[in-house]
Amino acid sequence: MSGERILIVDDESSLREFLSILLERDGYVVRTAASGERALDIFDGFAPDVVLSDLNMPGIDGIELLRQVRARALKAGRHVPFILVTAYGTVANAVAATKEGAFDYVAKPFNNDELRLIVGRALAMRKLEADNARLRAELGERFQLGQLVGASPKMQSVYELVRRVMGTRINCLICGESGTGKELLARAIHYGSERAQGPFVAVNCGAIPENLIESELFGYLKGAFTGAAQNKIGLFKAANGGTLFLDEIGEMPLSAQVKVLRAIQERKVTPVGGTAEETLDVRIVAATNRDLGVEVAHNRFREDLYYRLNVVQIDMPPLRERAGDIAVLTQHFIQKFAEEYGKPMRGATPECLRLIESYPFPGNVRELQNVVERAVAFELGNVLTPGSLPDRLHGNFAPASDERAELNLPPGGIDLEARVAGVERRYLEKALEVTGGNRTQAAKLLGITFRSLRYRLVKFGMDAGDLSES
Ligand SMILES: Nc1ncnc2c1ncn2[C@@H]1O[C@H](COP(=O)(O)OP(=O)(O)OP(=O)(O)O)[C@@H](O)[C@H]1O
Ligand SMILES: [Mg+2]
Repeated sequence: MSGERILIVDDESSLREFLSILLERDGYVVRTAASGERALDIFDGFAPDVVLSDLNMPGIDGIELLRQVRARALKAGRHVPFILVTAYGTVANAVAATKEGAFDYVAKPFNNDELRLIVGRALAMRKLEADNARLRAELGERFQLGQLVGASPKMQSVYELVRRVMGTRINCLICGESGTGKELLARAIHYGSERAQGPFVAVNCGAIPENLIESELFGYLKGAFTGAAQNKIGLFKAANGGTLFLDEIGEMPLSAQVKVLRAIQERKVTPVGGTAEETLDVRIVAATNRDLGVEVAHNRFREDLYYRLNVVQIDMPPLRERAGDIAVLTQHFIQKFAEEYGKPMRGATPECLRLIESYPFPGNVRELQNVVERAVAFELGNVLTPGSLPDRLHGNFAPASDERAELNLPPGGIDLEARVAGVERRYLEKALEVTGGNRTQAAKLLGITFRSLRYRLVKFGMDAGDLSES
């Protein structure tokens, strides 16, 4: 390591000299200042990579210098680690200074190797900071669409397709696994279109009970049925002039599909209990994590509606197929949660990033987001380290290894029910872990309905009381 610039500030000339010799021998370019004032004079011109300063000095002391250096570095968009050198009796002050942003401190008398080690670490941190700054800059460029982040070739082709349909009112069908960003994309389509000023109305078709779907979507007139005390506007009408997002469209019962098809084809709706049709201008964006083609083949989804919806089909690739996005997304979420938690997080260590990048993320971006949020909350330092990642990112996660494992059937026989229940239970736990306890998402990840998940949780005594849909 050589050529990096170090500014040494100390009112004691013998120490300045000693430090210069020590660090110049390691190949650093060193300049010295005999006071905080002098250090500030040469700071801008010298542009040091690290400042090494005495804590107790007449005039501007180490702490005040730290504040001023930080302010200047911030203005210049640079990161300059600051190391304090302190006498034995004032270590407590130096510790306090690390809370003000000092990188570290060295207590006098110090060991030469210790000092070199701290300087080396400060420079490594500076480099990490620069790498993360580059990642952050990339985020702002062409790698974003609405709130969607991701630079992989697969995401770029998604953006390209979306940009072509954004300005139109063509209906879109977004397909993809749970947690891949389908809803975020639907919003991007709406807010990037001419309808952005109009409403964006999202409906979870799987969450509305079958007998209420029609009145939710199309509204009803007062007296249409018992309990209809006044007129109610339906979601189609609420989305007039904007976009109606039909989420989980694959869950919509066949009876409702007929009516939705009609509404889309004719651009007209009739509220329950009414006769007069209303003409509406609504763009439909639908999403599903099922293969609707298969649903059609099994007569669980109407073919005519399918073709109405997927005029343009956008496939959201699973995260494991766009490994290149993980680093950028990780950085994005670190920033997001660092702000939320009010923690000055800078990024992740290379080792931490490597662990994240080698995990397959069955819960896709949502799972990555949960992992980073938890890590930011747990982390005590300013960078994410492997220690704050959940166990599953450390371990060996050969996919479906338990399904391939050699079966052990002893001569005395086994209790099949108990064995199967054990596996089932582990999958339930895993799904809840991966989704951060979100039962709706966990059910999707397991390919079962919310109702079925709830039943199983009760069966295993895993229902923590709250059984409502999250
Ligand atoms: N590319 C991305 N950039 C930033 N955040 C993302 C991205 N993709 C997903 N997210 C975030 O991950 C979470 C899940 O995304 P979203 O709800 O859009 O997924 P989904 O495909 O609709 O999932 P589901 O099928 O389970 O409803 C959200 O919090 C979203 O903000
Ligand atoms: Mg969704």
